[in-house]
Amino acid sequence: MIETSSSGRFYHQRAEFKRCIPAFLSAHLTLFTVLWIVGFASLFLWQKNLVDGFWLFKPAVARPVPMMRPVAVNLTDFGGKGDGKTMNTEAFERAVTAIKKLRMKGGGQLNVPAGFWLTAPFNLTSHMTLFLAENAVILAVQDEKYWTLMPPLPSYGYGREHPGPRYGSLIHGQHLKDVVITGHNGTIDGQGQSWWIKHRQKLLNYTRGPLLQIMWSRDIRISNVTLRNSPFWNIHPYDCKNISITNVTILAPVFGAPNTDGIDPDSCENMLIEDCYISVGDDGIAIKSGWDQYGIAYGQSSTNILIRNLVVQSTVR
Ligand SMILES: *[C@@H]1O[C@H](CO)[C@@H](O)[C@H](O)[C@H]1NC(C)=O
Ligand SMILES: *[C@@H]1O[C@H](CO)[C@@H](O)[C@H](O)[C@H]1NC(C)=O
Ligand SMILES: *[C@@H]1O[C@H](CO)[C@@H](O)[C@H](O)[C@H]1NC(C)=O
Ligand SMILES: *[C@@H]1O[C@H](CO)[C@@H](O)[C@H](O)[C@H]1NC(C)=O
Ligand SMILES: *[C@@H]1O[C@H](CO)[C@@H](O)[C@H](O)[C@H]1NC(C)=O
Ligand SMILES: *[C@@H]1O[C@H](CO)[C@@H](O)[C@H](O)[C@H]1NC(C)=O
Ligand SMILES: *[C@@H]1O[C@H](CO)[C@@H](O)[C@H](O)[C@H]1NC(C)=O
Repeated sequence: MIETSSSGRFYHQRAEFKRCIPAFLSAHLTLFTVLWIVGFASLFLWQKNLVDGFWLFKPAVARPVPMMRPVAVNLTDFGGKGDGKTMNTEAFERAVTAIKKLRMKGGGQLNVPAGFWLTAPFNLTSHMTLFLAENAVILAVQDEKYWTLMPPLPSYGYGREHPGPRYGSLIHGQHLKDVVITGHNGTIDGQGQSWWIKHRQKLLNYTRGPLLQIMWSRDIRISNVTLRNSPFWNIHPYDCKNISITNVTILAPVFGAPNTDGIDPDSCENMLIEDCYISVGDDGIAIKSGWDQYGIAYGQSSTNILIRNLVVQSTVR
């Protein structure tokens, strides 16, 4: 305490204090520096953890999306809104049309960022990559009036559940070449619950549509995505060549989700299904070549299909 301004005690104390400085510094400089560094480092780590924790809740920027084509576009560039309510059908269609024009330049990549992208069925094009970022969810609209009707598959003769036309698939492609559907485990969600109920109550007039159907196409790769709650079959490659499905998760309730087959290769040639997790309400994988006299007349068998390293959980009927 230095309070008595005119006393000798003051001078004594000040002198002592002055002498103390170099001693204190030499003796404690190292410790002082170390403490300062430790203090600053822990502050830095604390801030970093805060930032990391912050990113946990902001996953849209967590993983950079790789460029797999010379040109990449973002669904938001075409007016897409990932709020789970806005219909993004036109945004998807416009994006696919833009990519179609890049055909001669090696095609294009459509990035679907994190969010809930509600849509009606849309078609893919050749030389395109559909990339689902981490926490990106393509949500199928449930109201069946948005689901386009398509003619029956030639090797089936009629809709699998009803005569006449059938609902198309949410994500559809035909006569395509070089299509990639991949991502950082983003999701394609069929919101099939209402379809399963209507099917059981016999309220549907047409056969339900699959989540993903690629017909008369070649060089198709599906990887690193999750498919869930398809109204009907999940992945239906029809009369395709050279198709690989790897590291895909396919989920639907094991009970109460009728005909939610995982992967149904149908009249397909040269196919690989590898490292997938499939837990669905019907067959995990069912290899087909049409059915009945229509299949025989179509005359295209499934050949050379390699299936390995799967975990499958499915309903035995
Ligand atoms: C797409 O655009 C949105 C909005 O501008 C942005 O948040 C997102 O990071 C972009 N994603 C990609 C993969 O480019
Ligand atoms: C997708 O393409 C098929 C075949 O050209 C067509 O029948 C169908 O209407 C198209 N679907 C959509 C949603 O445009
Ligand atoms: C499978 O996909 C997940 C999620 O995208 C990824 O983390 C993992 O590395 C992939 N595994 C392989 C073998 O590609
Ligand atoms: C991908 O997502 C699904 C569904 O959220 C999850 O069950 C699965 O473990 C994820 N796969 C990987 C490899 O992260
Ligand atoms: C099925 O057809 C009936 C009779 O035409 C109609 O009333 C009903 O709305 C249709 N159901 C669906 C889901 O389209
Ligand atoms: C199969 O498809 C892949 C990927 O699209 C392609 O790289 C490969 O050349 C194709 N193989 C054959 C034999 O056509
Ligand atoms: C799947 O994702 C992993 C991790 O991001 C990546 O290393 C791998 O190349 C991807 N595989 C395919 C076939 O896309």
